[in-house]
Amino acid sequence: MRNPLFSKLLTDLRKIDIAATSLRIEQLFEHEPDRIQRMSVRLPGILLDISKQRLSKKAHQVLLEMLSKSGLLSERARMFEGEVINYTEQRPVLHVALRAQEGDAVAMPQLLAEVLAQRRRMLAFAEEIRSSNNISDVIHVGIGGSDLGPRVALQALSSGTPDGPRVHFLSSMDGHALANVLAIANPKRTLLSIASKSFSTLETRINAASLRLWMQEAGLSEQEIKTRCVALTANTQAALSEGILPEFIFPLWEWVGGRYSLCSSIGLPIALAFGSKVFEQMLAGARAMDQHFLNAPVDLNGPILLAMVDVWNLNVLDLRTHCIVPYHANLARLPAYLQQLEMESNGKARDVDGLPLPYQVAPLVWGEAGTDAQHSFFQWLHQGTQVCPVDFIAVKTASHSYAEHHSQLIANCLAQSAALMKGKSLQQAHAEMMAAGMSAAQADALAGHRAFEGNRPSSVLLLDKLDAWHFGALIALYEHKTFVASLLWGINAFDQWGVELGKNLAADMYLRIRGQAAPKFDPSTESLLQALK
Ligand code: F6P
Repeated sequence: MRNPLFSKLLTDLRKIDIAATSLRIEQLFEHEPDRIQRMSVRLPGILLDISKQRLSKKAHQVLLEMLSKSGLLSERARMFEGEVINYTEQRPVLHVALRAQEGDAVAMPQLLAEVLAQRRRMLAFAEEIRSSNNISDVIHVGIGGSDLGPRVALQALSSGTPDGPRVHFLSSMDGHALANVLAIANPKRTLLSIASKSFSTLETRINAASLRLWMQEAGLSEQEIKTRCVALTANTQAALSEGILPEFIFPLWEWVGGRYSLCSSIGLPIALAFGSKVFEQMLAGARAMDQHFLNAPVDLNGPILLAMVDVWNLNVLDLRTHCIVPYHANLARLPAYLQQLEMESNGKARDVDGLPLPYQVAPLVWGEAGTDAQHSFFQWLHQGTQVCPVDFIAVKTASHSYAEHHSQLIANCLAQSAALMKGKSLQQAHAEMMAAGMSAAQADALAGHRAFEGNRPSSVLLLDKLDAWHFGALIALYEHKTFVASLLWGINAFDQWGVELGKNLAADMYLRIRGQAAPKFDPSTESLLQALK
């Protein structure tokens, strides 16, 4: 199943690269008059500009050709048709079905009917809570994909009017986080939304148990607690065994990966905080991007182009990290969301057949909101010894009326992207210092420090604005990009066996920490356990 073309392609691309890298990005603009036309692409609600990538026209063409022949298009069709493409778990991958609408022509009408019915149930519940006046706070308990999506969404949409209950998120089992939430919420007016696809995740179980105890200690009866607990899960049986009432269980399905579950019942907090219409707008934006991914030609297809750039940067230019810088305070948590999406999906060393991969996959994804990031790690981006491609994400129209702020923000975003490409030569740095009145000796000594190598690649994603629709589109863009990259690398993006080992060891470690019998660990761990006594 491994993409057999990929290894050959890498050899071809590396040859092309020798020619491509001899030209700086700025020179590529001079040599390629159609560069903007080819590399600045209109997607639903987003302008994607990849023209400042270190990718020559020739390499771009070869990549597009490879993409068309790679089998990616048939695998994309197989995903939309509900075929089993999560090979190691023998499951279809259908998060796109979560955004489908009444009347959509889909391969599985039965499944669509169920998705729509459950969505209606969940949204009706959200509206009931919003209008009841009994609930002032929602504590959403979940981790990983059961936390990051709604958490990022609530922040992203916070410029709207969150006119529902306040939502608090509890993910880690760290008691400090629990204590912080309990200090604010009122146990008699709180709804617990227990989100766990498996309904077996340790952190979520511990937090849910402590929260129920908190309600009990506040004098609520067992029955009252039951009417304040909802489960968002694919494991209905486990939720029932935990005493959740059937009418308070909102299902998702095994064919929704945790990190792809934002548009399922896991997104309930969005509907609770902003209302069902906003939730539906988010689905509509994601659906528009799904349709774009499915139908747009390869050379204009946002997810495919972004994956192509990732492959080029990692496998040809050997750039092993990828920085995400959203120039929007409400997207500050987006890098964390994308970290799970991309690194849990593609952080693998084996192809779909279980064979060791002969090339690198999945760059390290990291980032921080601008302009804060400019005053921390941008020094490293501009002058460090490693080159790291950046995705700059900005919005055209702000959701506030401080025009001066927005102009400055966007100016900084575009300036950083341009500066990374442009750099500043030694001669230029030298001339500037001489013009400012420095002596030649001083200018000689400082020119190296003040020069910028430049030629550092970045993409710009310019959203029309940040509302639920555009947020949905942005998330779907990165979801599909992650999938396309996995296809090119020949790996399965939808399992995550790598998270198991640490979880299993923690069970024995817990016994040791509590002074109970369990196997011995390595000398380092044993000495740490000793220190904890
Ligand atoms: O630790 C990995 C993981 O399984 C993620 O893939 C998932 O999003 C998270 O844990 C939470 O899982 P669950 O929703 O089953 O509680």
